[in-house]
Amino acid sequence: MFDILKLLIYILPAYVANATPVVLGGGPPIDLGFHWLDKKRLYGDGKTIRGFIGGFLAGFLVGAIESIFLGEIYLFSGLLLSFGTMFGDLLGSFIKRRLDIPRGQPMFILDQLFFLLVALIFTLPVYPLELIEIAALFVITGFLHVLFNVLANKLGLKSVPW
Ligand code: CTP
Ligand code: MG
Repeated sequence: MFDILKLLIYILPAYVANATPVVLGGGPPIDLGFHWLDKKRLYGDGKTIRGFIGGFLAGFLVGAIESIFLGEIYLFSGLLLSFGTMFGDLLGSFIKRRLDIPRGQPMFILDQLFFLLVALIFTLPVYPLELIEIAALFVITGFLHVLFNVLANKLGLKSVPW
């Protein structure tokens, strides 16, 4: 059996990077209002510069703290997980806008798991996982994402439960 706790510690920077922009974000959007060839916004107003930088730094900080106790590899994996998460989040919004899904409207599976896919693509070269561990991460992340978004909605941090 793989070690679930170790897996959660490993992925924590991605979760923190994904979760913190809702409180750290605001201000000008990353696409600065630009529109794509289809005349729709590149990413939309839900992706702000502050949210991107704040989420990245928060996730990176978690990885940096982990690395003090668990070794240097967590500094690198934390860096790549945090950047990959924020990059994947942008890519996800890019896809949603192209599919004509308005900012803030849900796209199930993509909203919950796309950031993880991109983060892992960035990180696996420096921190390889077994296939069963990757599969477990997708299942756990899908479950936790739904749980935490419902919670954030109930706490008044998000206006929608997704
Ligand atoms: N957020 C931000 N900057 C980011 C990512 C998120 O400021 N790079 C903030 C925004 O206030 C956003 C909220 O976190 O509304 C929730 O994030 P998310 O659900 O990813 O964005 P949505 O508003 O749902 O937009 P989209 O439809 O593009 O996913
Ligand atoms: Mg959303």
